[in-house]
Amino acid sequence: MADVHLNGSFMSAEQARISPMDRGFLFADGIYEVIPAFNAVPFRLDEHLRRLQRSLDAVQLPNPHSAQVWQALCMQMIARNGGGNLSIYLQITRGAPERRDHAFPAPLVSPTVFMATSSLAASAINNADTASGAAAIVAQDIRWARCDIKSVALLPNILLRHQAVSVGAVEAILVRDGFVTEGSSTNVFIAKAGRIVTPPRTHKILAGVTRGLVIELCRDLDFPLLEQEVPEEQLRDADEIWITSSSKDALPIVSLDGRRVGNGSPGPLWRKLARHFFEFKRAECGVPQRADAASGGNN
Ligand code: PDD
Repeated sequence: MADVHLNGSFMSAEQARISPMDRGFLFADGIYEVIPAFNAVPFRLDEHLRRLQRSLDAVQLPNPHSAQVWQALCMQMIARNGGGNLSIYLQITRGAPERRDHAFPAPLVSPTVFMATSSLAASAINNADTASGAAAIVAQDIRWARCDIKSVALLPNILLRHQAVSVGAVEAILVRDGFVTEGSSTNVFIAKAGRIVTPPRTHKILAGVTRGLVIELCRDLDFPLLEQEVPEEQLRDADEIWITSSSKDALPIVSLDGRRVGNGSPGPLWRKLARHFFEFKRAECGVPQRADAASGGNN
């Protein structure tokens, strides 16, 4: 049984106990992060911790730890869970007061801090030449107006992902008022005639750490890239579609609502990006080359 961290102690997941009065349980009143570690090295940790701070600030939840303490906790979680390629989950809720009350507890109670790890499937970028890509659907974005906050309230995302999975797709790409926002747990890039476009960073999307990295990598490669609104028709007419997240890196979407994207296989821009992404990761973490390409099993 894997080791988790709960409120300052490490224990097996079986031993961990949380009060039913916890506001995370009752109200989804909490914030989370998902940080990948490759070869036992956390990837883009500073960027994840900065986003964590922004989310906590947005919901007026004090950060229980400094960046140094978070880093030490991540390293201990990696060591206790066998190292290798892991996804580190961390969650902070507004604690467990005596009464259920929508108002913030007064006085404040200690936050609940929880961390767990899960293994990461091999990424499509590990095998840029042979990866086959994945399927997605298009769905209406039914979420709230502050999707920039990494809140644990994920019911709409869960329903949308289920809609995708129930037809054999890995992701639902979301459209609000006729424009693409993001995926249920990924950001979206499209390519058309050699140009890359991704929706801008607004309250309508999560500022994905991988999205930020993919923008940097595209610039290194001199790909023309714009952060601008993507009408739904542009998505359906794209030569290439990529979805990005900490657990998928950049995954090519080769089928959208059952129709081929481009020629139905990962496009040339994705292949170039994937090679560069892989080398970047190897330089940062020394990721060993793996033969098995994932089609997107993780979140
Ligand atoms: N999801 N958009 C949404 C709605 C997300 O939930 C995520 C991440 C992303 C990509 O962000 P990043 O590149 O920082 O992982 C975009 C995580 C992986 C999850 O909920 O498990």
